[in-house]
Amino acid sequence: MMLTKRKISLLIFLSFFLLSCDSNSKIWTIFREDDLLEHPPAKRCAECHQEIYKQWNKSRHAVSYISEDYKKATNHYAKTKCLACHIPLEMSIAEKPEIREIHREDGINCVSCHFSSKDKAMHGPYDVFSPPHPSMQDKNFKKSIVCSSCHQETYKQWKKSNVSKTCQECHMKPVKKMDLIQKFPFDLFHLAKKVYNHSFPTTIAKQEDLHLTAKKTEDSLIIILENISIPHNLPTADNGNPKFYVLATTYKNGEKKENFTEVITPKYALEYKKPKKIEFITFEDFDKVNIKVLRKLSWKKQKELIKSVNIKF
Ligand code: HEC
Ligand code: HEC
Ligand code: HEC
Ligand code: HEC
Ligand code: HEC
Repeated sequence: MMLTKRKISLLIFLSFFLLSCDSNSKIWTIFREDDLLEHPPAKRCAECHQEIYKQWNKSRHAVSYISEDYKKATNHYAKTKCLACHIPLEMSIAEKPEIREIHREDGINCVSCHFSSKDKAMHGPYDVFSPPHPSMQDKNFKKSIVCSSCHQETYKQWKKSNVSKTCQECHMKPVKKMDLIQKFPFDLFHLAKKVYNHSFPTTIAKQEDLHLTAKKTEDSLIIILENISIPHNLPTADNGNPKFYVLATTYKNGEKKENFTEVITPKYALEYKKPKKIEFITFEDFDKVNIKVLRKLSWKKQKELIKSVNIKF
């Protein structure tokens, strides 16, 4: 309560002082913090954008350079052609980014996505008044195209799907309405806005995202699997090695007969709304099959179950 009272009187005082000058006036430049325009590390942005920093810090983007998988895949950083998307300086729409020489341990950091040295401003979804650094509203931040300079293959798949739902609508859902900054006194001057999830969750397909049917022939089991709602391949990858697995177990009169496994890689993935036929040659007769679909992310050891169904014949 005390803090609120203090905040309110300060706000009134500052408003009288500042409202006497309009927002184009030079007075605001006393709040300018010039190092913000020199590609600082994410920790520097966290001095004001604390909540967003905490989310980003949990994301795969924050570990894109220091992860064990990346180290291994590049022979401990020997492959320089990989750097552009894993430690980008700035990204320009639909082009491979430039490589950053500093703060590499930051991976894909705040300025990689938000800063443009062309107009020396932070680009973002809102029209904001931000005295510490210039900001520029950029409509692309609401569109899938901001993800396209690195997620090139996934973006192509998405485009082909003709679905209007954007990458952000699934991988950057609104977390809550709050201040974009948590630093006094700047927080007094801004209204709460929607903050979108900067931990960029991968999420997992739901049962109903995959349509599955099975048929029995004289000497085989045929499974038709279709990705009916995710507008990119499953698994999708510009790099890395994610996988899907289809496991089938046949039964006769309740007794287990045979096990079958099909591994689905990014190259032969489940494309959006394109049924995939999987055929297992069977040697023993069966009257029931249990089919499981699992996924394994590139950077996780364990497999996760998406769907399990029993079908009787
Ligand atoms: C000294 C405080 C401060 C620091 C440090 C700071 N910002 Fe900001 N930033 C602001 C304020 C104030 C706003 C406007 C907030 C509002 O209107 O709700 C803002 C808004 C933004 C926006 C929204 C722009 C838009 O148009 O939607 C982005 C993006 C942004 N900052 C990025 C950054 C990045 C990246 C860094 C680190 C390089 C950074 N900021 C460091 C104070 C700061
Ligand atoms: C500057 C390049 C770049 C941009 C721009 C970018 N990403 Fe990424 N993204 C990556 C890289 C590299 C990884 C892999 C990091 C790792 O796991 O080491 C990644 C990982 C991810 C993951 C986790 C994937 C997994 O395997 O679990 C998601 C989800 C994701 N990004 C979504 C997005 C979305 C949505 C956007 C657009 C708002 C976006 N990314 C923009 C480079 C980028
Ligand atoms: C991979 C690219 C990417 C990275 C990395 C990233 N952002 Fe964002 N940021 C976005 C996108 C895309 C949006 C717009 C989301 C929307 O409106 O749907 C956004 C929105 C914002 C906004 C406006 C509020 C909001 O959530 O929409 C601020 C402020 C911001 N980012 C600051 C930061 C800061 C600070 C960091 C580092 C801690 C950071 N961003 C890292 C892509 C990124
Ligand atoms: C309708 C929601 C939806 C949209 C739109 C969407 N995704 Fe996804 N995405 C998912 C789901 C669900 C998964 C998890 C699939 C699984 O492994 O179960 C996923 C997985 C991923 C992965 C992890 C790769 C893997 O297979 O391990 C990346 C990277 C990714 N998406 C990037 C993107 C990008 C980039 C866009 C926009 C071009 C996008 N997504 C659009 C729902 C969506
Ligand atoms: C065009 C941009 C781009 C380039 C260049 C690039 N990557 Fe990536 N990388 C990505 C994206 C985007 C992801 C996110 C995973 C996905 O697409 O499902 C990723 C993911 C990965 C992953 C999986 C993450 C994990 O932690 O398991 C590894 C490993 C990887 N990249 C290694 C490399 C190597 C090695 C090179 C060079 C031969 C390279 N990358 C070049 C964009 C790129």
